[in-house]
Amino acid sequence: MLEQIQETASFIRARMHTAPETAVILGSGLGKLVNELTDTYEIRYEEIPNFPVSTVEGHSGKLIFGRLGKKEIMAMQGRFHYYEGYNMKEVTFPVRVMHELGIKNLFVSNAAGGTNPTFEIGDLMIITDHINFFPEHPLRGKNIYYGPRFPDMSEAYSRKFIERAKRIAAKKGIIVREGIYIGTQGPTYETPAEYRMFARWGADAVGMSTVPEVIVANHCGMKVFGISVITDLGVEGKIVEVSHEDVQKAADAAQPRMTAIMKDLINEE
Ligand code: HPA
Repeated sequence: MLEQIQETASFIRARMHTAPETAVILGSGLGKLVNELTDTYEIRYEEIPNFPVSTVEGHSGKLIFGRLGKKEIMAMQGRFHYYEGYNMKEVTFPVRVMHELGIKNLFVSNAAGGTNPTFEIGDLMIITDHINFFPEHPLRGKNIYYGPRFPDMSEAYSRKFIERAKRIAAKKGIIVREGIYIGTQGPTYETPAEYRMFARWGADAVGMSTVPEVIVANHCGMKVFGISVITDLGVEGKIVEVSHEDVQKAADAAQPRMTAIMKDLINEE
């Protein structure tokens, strides 16, 4: 596993002519951040040795390197979800490669269903903490020396980034919520009983990504910032049928607000 990570990192390093310390996983709501990048160059996933092979033909994604304002960054366009059939080593493989490439800060986004009764569709939620409800742990197995066998998770999402993001949002007049994200395997959305259970457990939003990558990033010593777009509501009295299209539409509508916050946040780092 370590050998594969290092082989992949060497391949990518040989194609790099910048030295970013910041990576972004372009999840829902952040896809258009690539339009803000300058001096870009790309590597398609299918060219990269050991990278997981896409389950959807023609949609394998790519790494995009470039400058966001003054900052050199590396962006992942297309992430690997557990529900697609990848195991946790595969889902988190790119994050370990990022570590080998010198990435210190990781910014992630996702779409999530709100379980907090005060939330509305279209809200942005800064992730303050998470609950790992995936059936497989990404650090299960032989420990890689990137971090300890039993990693601390007391500040999985950097408090410094959270405070800065709140300040940036306030300055721009963008309303943001804060809350706890529970990561679950999907691919079904939740039953009303499951949404209620997650709310009682203390979750404010539920989604099918992010948690594995954030755990591995923490193990590697990265500082993490995450933000969710609330695309539907799992709140009693407000639950309606959810479709992927509705989720996509709500995420697209939140795109300009999410991008504005991320852009300034990344540039301040
Ligand atoms: N549940 C799980 N994942 C999601 C949801 C949801 O309601 N909305 C967007 N991703």
